Amino acid sequence: MTELAEIDYFTNSDIAQDPYAYWEHLRSQGPVTREPHYGVVAVTGYQEVHAAFKDVDAFSAVNAIGGPFPPLPFTPEGDDISELIEAHRHEFPIFEHMVVMDPPHHEKARSLLGRLLTPRRLQENEEYIWRLADDQFDEFIDNGRCEFLSEFAKPYATLAIADLLGVPDEDRPKLRRNLGAGSAPDYHVGSLDSTPVGSNPLRYLDDLFSGYIADRRENPRDDVLTGLATATYPDGSTPPLLEVVRPATFLFGAGQETVVKLLSSAIQVLGDRPELQATLRADRSLIPAFIEESLRFESPTKVDFRLARKSTTLGGVPIKAGTVLMLCLGAANRDPRKFDNPDEFHLDRRNVREHIAFGRGIHTCAGAPLARVEGRVTINRMLDRLSEIRISQAQHGPLDRRDYRYEPTFLLRGLTDLHIEFDASS
Ligand code: HEM
Repeated sequence: MTELAEIDYFTNSDIAQDPYAYWEHLRSQGPVTREPHYGVVAVTGYQEVHAAFKDVDAFSAVNAIGGPFPPLPFTPEGDDISELIEAHRHEFPIFEHMVVMDPPHHEKARSLLGRLLTPRRLQENEEYIWRLADDQFDEFIDNGRCEFLSEFAKPYATLAIADLLGVPDEDRPKLRRNLGAGSAPDYHVGSLDSTPVGSNPLRYLDDLFSGYIADRRENPRDDVLTGLATATYPDGSTPPLLEVVRPATFLFGAGQETVVKLLSSAIQVLGDRPELQATLRADRSLIPAFIEESLRFESPTKVDFRLARKSTTLGGVPIKAGTVLMLCLGAANRDPRKFDNPDEFHLDRRNVREHIAFGRGIHTCAGAPLARVEGRVTINRMLDRLSEIRISQAQHGPLDRRDYRYEPTFLLRGLTDLHIEFDASS
């Protein structure tokens, strides 16, 4: 315990490989407790994480991605630092993206996404995703094995979002090369390079989409990009170009690596638990519950951050204005007060859909429906097309001594690689 108490969550590489014992140590001190190195208040309780997400008056999302990095650009004073946050907002990383915005600006930015994520668009996108899964399998099925992240999950997650946004077919291979199937992102624990998509691909995407939107504003066509280009705010005004481009490009940042992590942890479970694989093969209606339990069990977004703008209490613990909160989603999803036997993977968990892997409140994941479709389609088509999915012993060792490596980042939880073997269904 003493050892765990001394560990720096943000830089320790062992904790990045397995955060669960550390979170249990924090939990033993209470669901809301101060971490010693950066003065960050860690929240491991389900109910308390939920409450923090919901209280937008007391907690700002301005530091949602970076947490204590970089340090605050001002010295907090008094019991309400709202004005200081607003005065310095532009100095916070990715301040131009909705995930770090607070009301009322957040609502405006998110309203543009509502124009994109319509039931009809999601339905068309799902039809594409079924075809996409098969195209991806076709690329490697004859080999009898694959590295699941690079050969399936990365290109699949990238192309699913490209289709959602209506990127023209001829531009998709280049986008895939630039974002999806390249080498793993360059993670540096403790810096903002640990954001989901690496150093600065959002700028590349901003340029690409600025071109599309400007073109569609000049020459409207009957396509999704034109719908985005002509979207208006709820008051009828037309947003400046970049205010349309940013919600669109942010989808790649938010929805690519997270989905890759969900899919790879789900396939890891299928490979390690042949009996579960057999159950799902026999009853496909269990697949949605399997996806939800995968999200609970290995939450792709491990932690999320908030900044206390007002002095308040959380779970009975006083929180001073200016305190950085670390909402540990992966820990909350294993809170024994909420989930029975939380460290076990159960297909029939009664309250599994109450997991908090997609956050809660005004910033609740806008891409959750898409992530769920991607998961459901992947598992369904994999079970259709591969008769037996096995983890490669040569790469990951025997069942009782598996060697899995996880991305060394404090923000996300996911495998660096997953080698599987299979027989193609006849
Ligand atoms: C398994 C996959 C995913 C996980 C675990 C996940 C997780 C999350 C979480 C926890 C948040 C809340 C952040 C906060 O409150 O600070 C969030 C927000 C968001 N997610 Fe996801 N996400 C996933 C997939 C996606 C996908 C596929 C997309 C889009 C294509 C997406 C788009 C977004 C957007 C736009 C936000 C910001 C919403 C806002 O600020 O109002 N996510 N996501």
